[in-house]
Amino acid sequence: MIFFVLYQSDATTDFPSDEDHKILETAYHRNRADQITGYLVRTPNKYYQYLEGPSAKLDALLQDIKSDVRHTDFELIQDGVIAQRRFSSWTMGYHLMSDKDLDEFYSWLHEGEGFGEVLIAYMEQMARQREEQFNRPGLRGG
Ligand SMILES: Cc1cc2nc3c(=O)[nH]c(=O)nc-3n(C[C@H](O)[C@H](O)[C@H](O)COP(=O)(O)O)c2cc1C
Repeated sequence: MIFFVLYQSDATTDFPSDEDHKILETAYHRNRADQITGYLVRTPNKYYQYLEGPSAKLDALLQDIKSDVRHTDFELIQDGVIAQRRFSSWTMGYHLMSDKDLDEFYSWLHEGEGFGEVLIAYMEQMARQREEQFNRPGLRGG
């Protein structure tokens, strides 16, 4: 069974920040070993992260993430069980949101669906676009 978690937090790092690269570097090794996949979105003030994988590994990773000083105010948006991974080819995808992206994203949010659903759909769209472009801004694995 695959569990997923979607959360948001307030970044304490600069925007953009080398720390994000360090996070992705760690994620590349650890997520790969723990069969965790997902997507990380960075805005000037926030992190939004979607993680999916086996329950025990996911819980252990979340404990570490929650105590990471690179962000504060961890807030769960959504969690649950899924039949199939949404980001199976991404050890941890990454998207740095520009102000323009943010405007677009917030106008999209007003279309009525729940925030979590819209956010996940946005991440999936970003991942799909990247897969089509073959440029590797996030870390691919599999
Ligand atoms: C916003 C954010 C997202 C993170 N995502 C991951 C992740 O997907 N995988 C990971 O291994 N570490 C992630 N980290 C880093 C962890 O908090 C932690 O530093 C790391 O897993 C420590 O791994 P180690 O104990 O194996 O060295 C993230 C940190 C932050 C601030």
